[in-house]
Amino acid sequence: MARGRQLSITLAFCWLNALLFAAWSVAPAAAIDDAEPNLYFGVRPRIPKGLMTGLMWGKIEGYADFQHNIRYTCEQNEGMKGYGWDEYDPRRGGVQSIHDIGNGIDITTSFVKVPGGAHGGNWAVRIKGKLHEDTPADQKTIVVWYVAQEGEDSTLQAQPGDDDFGYDGDVTLNGWSEALGGYKLVVTRGKGVQPRSDHDLSTIRGPGQTVVQSLNYPEEHLWQGKGILFRQLKEGVDWLVENKYDVQDPPPPWQVYLLANKPGKGNVQLVQRIFEGDFEFDVLFSSESAGVEITSENLTREVQEATESFAERFKSVFAPKAPFNADKYTRLGHSLFSNLIGGIGYFYGHSLVDRSYASEYDEDSEGFWEDAAAARARNLQALEGPYELFSSIPSRPFFPRGFLWDEGFHLLPIADWDSDLALDIVHSWFNLMDEDGWIAREQILGTEARSKVPAEFQTQYPHYANPPTLFFVVEDFLEKLLKTNNGSRGGDAATGKEPLATASLDNSEVGLEHLRRLYPLLQRQFDWFRRTQAGDIKSYDREAFSSKEAYRWRGRTPTHCLTSGLDDYPRPNPPHPGELHVDLLSWVGVMARSLAHIAGALGLDEDTETYSNVLTAVSKNLDDLHWSEEHGCYCDATVDAFEEHQLVCHKGYISLFPFLTGLLPADSPRLGPLLKLMADEEELWSPHGLRSLSKKDEFYGTAENYWRSPVWININYLAIVQLHNLALQEGPHKSTARDLYTRLRRNIVDTVYRSWEDTGFAWEQYDPETGKGQRTQHFTGWTSLVVKIMAMEDLPGGGEEAAGVRDEL
Ligand SMILES: *[C@@H]1O[C@H](CO)[C@@H](O)[C@H](O)[C@H]1NC(C)=O
Ligand SMILES: *[C@@H]1O[C@H](CO)[C@@H](O)[C@H](O)[C@H]1NC(C)=O
Repeated sequence: MARGRQLSITLAFCWLNALLFAAWSVAPAAAIDDAEPNLYFGVRPRIPKGLMTGLMWGKIEGYADFQHNIRYTCEQNEGMKGYGWDEYDPRRGGVQSIHDIGNGIDITTSFVKVPGGAHGGNWAVRIKGKLHEDTPADQKTIVVWYVAQEGEDSTLQAQPGDDDFGYDGDVTLNGWSEALGGYKLVVTRGKGVQPRSDHDLSTIRGPGQTVVQSLNYPEEHLWQGKGILFRQLKEGVDWLVENKYDVQDPPPPWQVYLLANKPGKGNVQLVQRIFEGDFEFDVLFSSESAGVEITSENLTREVQEATESFAERFKSVFAPKAPFNADKYTRLGHSLFSNLIGGIGYFYGHSLVDRSYASEYDEDSEGFWEDAAAARARNLQALEGPYELFSSIPSRPFFPRGFLWDEGFHLLPIADWDSDLALDIVHSWFNLMDEDGWIAREQILGTEARSKVPAEFQTQYPHYANPPTLFFVVEDFLEKLLKTNNGSRGGDAATGKEPLATASLDNSEVGLEHLRRLYPLLQRQFDWFRRTQAGDIKSYDREAFSSKEAYRWRGRTPTHCLTSGLDDYPRPNPPHPGELHVDLLSWVGVMARSLAHIAGALGLDEDTETYSNVLTAVSKNLDDLHWSEEHGCYCDATVDAFEEHQLVCHKGYISLFPFLTGLLPADSPRLGPLLKLMADEEELWSPHGLRSLSKKDEFYGTAENYWRSPVWININYLAIVQLHNLALQEGPHKSTARDLYTRLRRNIVDTVYRSWEDTGFAWEQYDPETGKGQRTQHFTGWTSLVVKIMAMEDLPGGGEEAAGVRDEL
């Protein structure tokens, strides 16, 4: 029973990615080195027909079992003990560590990019393998660098070896493709012992050498690098058995699994080495149009500079503020942020969409969820596309694809670091919007991506919405643009900012142009939301300021509302076409506010007024339709047996939504009760952050318990930001807000830090009782918002009680 975001946890595959890309060129057509979305380490350009390269490794001890040891894409049971970027800046590169317990080895990949020329420039990576202390020093490790060139007109060729058996020194591949132009890829000899065997197989394989096998495979198979390697290995073994293999006196396994050396032309190239003990080598990619080739010396220097500049830059953008001054918090920040930004990838392929627009999808009958399920079962989906998406991801192992609801949160820290990069991603998402204004909430693009998601969850439905969090990012950009253009910025050296990373901010015309391009798209999405997710006010004699501003998420079932993003949070039950959702109305408010601001900045006065009026109507209707005086919080609404408006209150994140989204003014009479609800330890407050559902709710901690008690960092982040705003404004709640802000900020950071220290990972959510991270491991998506939380100001005098809370832990 897997649903929505949870479903992938149960998948057999764990996609470990080293998503890499460079974004130094804003021109989308340029061949920018980019993500290989499911590998421990791989590089590919941000174009459909690219050059895929990646690393495979594994120990070879026996003849039979070594297949399980080969790493390329991640399988869940591979016994990894932590992996990920220690530091990463997408414009320069970074360093990644992989702790491979199963193979008794640590792998480090140090990656750099050097821009230049017309095709995205050069890149290089240094791969180091260091055996663990308790690993036998003579363990043999097989290492393969996989190269696959897509595109019909492209060429790829290995230069011949030193003799028929292989290469004593570097291996050089020369390639050309339309998008990349000419290029050269060198796999250096590097350091490390390549073992020799006494076994005389010298007529077929050269001992102690590097080998290359050049092959031609149909393009649709190129993503299956590991499968291709195994197939070639098997071919070699079969040949050996037939021709040379004396069963009484077999050669050692590592020699059996050495590929025959067959260099030449081919869209697939396997460069293979066997190492005994530690090793190190470089892969150097030089683009012909860059005019200068990258060398190992360049790589050494660039890595060092990238490391230094990352630390500098982190300090200027996200320097943790009191009480998080200790170095350990900086390490936490480096790691989480690097993995968030290092998880940005390029995705390409077809998507499954059900465009039947079946009448059942209007969901206006009683029992609509059963009718809708029947309509879905007719399987009217079809492939659409191909589409491309440039996006970050919630979690490298489990969710290596784009999620609309998560993305707006991901981009907030990314935008602080590199606002142009964040804008590229926003544009990429809006490019996926259809003519109606719909964006699929989960982007499963291509055969490879679909192979990881069960069939029943692959199809996207154009009547399903998802929280429009990208509006946060555009709003954030607008605010930064306004601030920047009031002359507050010093020189680049002073701010530590790279000029390219803030080009749109530094040049207000460029910035405004981005807004002009986005504005009609945002409007279209807004209109789509209001049209397709409309709620019914009139049929039920509801009294409200506006007869229009009320909304209902489509896609509900009695137990779930996946489209809201809060999957199993309790809603009115059974579902009813007369239902109204307070979080959705709040999201519409967020969109209207944002559109009003942008229209203002663009000088579109009429639009500003239109959207301001919608915002006013939303604000009033939040109170008229969703405020419960009795419960002192906002609630979803349904209709009762007499078709009368009825509130259904399950206290938790939903009850706070108008506050969380910043729709309540500092003097709102609703704030008092809401702050009380947050601060109450018997309801939402826990020493580890705000609980998703009140401890007193009948559904607290029940069933899947996904959004029914655990602490989520994205929502806590919103609460912290709003408490901070409130603490800075004069009003009746100033000091309460200050206190809650200080304590909540501390609790959240400490909770994430502690689990990270204990386990080596950030987590999808945290247990409100123990503070332990749970569900998806290595969840460096919105949990990485702690870097922003740590960088927020300390408000002296707040959180008097905080010390007490800390002592309890
Ligand atoms: C590598 O270093 C040399 C010597 O400093 C320099 O001239 C060259 O431009 C560098 N190449 C690249 C690709 O950075
Ligand atoms: C500069 O700041 C003022 C007040 O903070 C604001 O009203 C104005 O819009 C800003 N100007 C620009 C060009 O951003």
